[in-house]
Amino acid sequence: MNFLELANKRFSVRDYKQTPVAKVDIEKCIQAARLAPSACNSQPWKFIVIDEPQLKNKVAENAFKSLISMNKFAFKAPVLIIITAEKQKLTAKIGNIVKKKDFRLFDIGIAAEHFCLQAAELGLGTCMLGWFNEKKLKKLLSIPTSRTIELMISVGYSESDSIPKKNRKELNQILTYNSY
Ligand SMILES: Cc1cc2nc3c(=O)[nH]c(=O)nc-3n(C[C@H](O)[C@H](O)[C@H](O)COP(=O)(O)O)c2cc1C
Repeated sequence: MNFLELANKRFSVRDYKQTPVAKVDIEKCIQAARLAPSACNSQPWKFIVIDEPQLKNKVAENAFKSLISMNKFAFKAPVLIIITAEKQKLTAKIGNIVKKKDFRLFDIGIAAEHFCLQAAELGLGTCMLGWFNEKKLKKLLSIPTSRTIELMISVGYSESDSIPKKNRKELNQILTYNSY
């Protein structure tokens, strides 16, 4: 599989088999995430793997229950990953202030995609989840108030074998050469 084939293979899986996911596979995905670039190499992330079934249900309940019907599918995923934003190096912090950007969000986004692409290579399905009840989750998992949860990822084997057709803008809508 070449890189474009892998990128095409990854899609947001929203229906999971109950088959458990091997720890070794999750750790391979975290290794891939660990290799991601980050502003000033701050690596401002932590990955909390929730794979104990009872706790996973509790986490899903706290994260998604009150969000009307949003992300209810994640209850079925055997593993949930919680990504917290951690301390940056001083230079990256200064960069945030000067450029008026939180570079940690870029960093975590890139690391999350490394995770998801590695998962796809292993035949695992994932879905990045930006909508969850952060307050409830932080309380449940005793995450310090100084930390934020930026992203979750559901992980498991997809119920479906097929890759849905990608709904993407055409190249000519997003690409220009040498001018805006
Ligand atoms: C930062 C981010 C947050 C997302 N949050 C959610 C979410 O809360 N629920 C959901 O079902 N999908 C979520 N997605 C998945 C997107 O909807 C999905 O990536 C997009 O529609 C493209 O489809 P594909 O991933 O199947 O290629 C999120 C994706 C990203 C990158």
